[in-house]
Amino acid sequence: MTKILAIESSCDETSAAVIENGTQQLSNVVASQIKSHMRFGGVVPEIASRHHVEQITQIVDTAMEEADCTWDMIDAIAVTQGPGLVGALLIGITAAKTLAFAHHKPLIPVNHMAGHIYANQLVQPMEFPLLSLVVSGGHTELVYMPADGEFEVIGETRDDAVGEAYDKIGRVLDLPYPGGKKIDEMAQEGEDVYDYPRAMITEENYDFSFSGLKSAVINHLHNAEQRGEQLEPQHIAASFQAAAVDVLVEKTLRALKEYPVKQLLVAGGVAANSGLRHDLKQRMATEAPDVALYFPPLSLCGDNAAMIGAAAYHLYGQKVYADLDLDAKPGLLL
Ligand code: KG4
Ligand code: ZN
Repeated sequence: MTKILAIESSCDETSAAVIENGTQQLSNVVASQIKSHMRFGGVVPEIASRHHVEQITQIVDTAMEEADCTWDMIDAIAVTQGPGLVGALLIGITAAKTLAFAHHKPLIPVNHMAGHIYANQLVQPMEFPLLSLVVSGGHTELVYMPADGEFEVIGETRDDAVGEAYDKIGRVLDLPYPGGKKIDEMAQEGEDVYDYPRAMITEENYDFSFSGLKSAVINHLHNAEQRGEQLEPQHIAASFQAAAVDVLVEKTLRALKEYPVKQLLVAGGVAANSGLRHDLKQRMATEAPDVALYFPPLSLCGDNAAMIGAAAYHLYGQKVYADLDLDAKPGLLL
């Protein structure tokens, strides 16, 4: 049995977890800072770093206690190296280095995006080759994985990430940050009555673009406001969500036709989206019935350390260890 203590601090969640064999969560403690950032309408990097400093020791202790673990039971310490906010990443990395040094454990650097994909491994075994649709506040990518630990980004957004578009529209609709979840709820009460653009949907590649859609929605709202017209926010949400989901689903199905895979793993904060879950399930049932579709449970869609511990297991087997001069990589790619 391999037990890995994992730490995640790339953005606005401070988290630590103990994961057994990359699949079993013995603990997964997540402290969200959302309340502190809400009044600023987005994550303030300096505030995020300060909260991580205040929380990290306590969160690690709680994760160890909840897992009923002593340090001699831990085989390695894994930490998010990037991508993320440099100051935020550095707090987790410093904590991980200190613990690795003090307790004589190997230190494993993990890519945050790989973590999102491996969150699925905490629910069912990953079978290769597979395809992953990674949708978060910072990323929108289609990733082909021919084998464990191998990543090929076959398509990505050319501008905004889909979660970023959700959050910016949320701000214009005066919703608390981050607006994604709330827009999803509103969309379920509204109707897709406005024909917003579905950028790049017919282009023969796997790339995305969401900034045009975001601007179309924001301009629609501003123009209506200037005319003194009241638009139904639920219909705006439903129409925006329909456009965003249509593109995500269409591009994913295009990739599934080209890449014969066993599984499609959806990953990242936007994997919680009800429209995406519904439409992908429906279209794959008829157009890619042989590919198994998985979404992580809602608790593992957002940022958490359990997914970092899951991704670290393969690296532990390969002895991909870092020295104590490990540095944060804010722009780390898969
Ligand atoms: O993966 P994540 O927790 O952090 C990043 O690594 O970015 O993703 C956060 C993003 C935010 O943009 C948030 O608004 C979005 O995920 N999100 C959603 C939903 N729940 C969270 N977007 C659409 N529908 C949801 N239900
Ligand atoms: Zn994330």
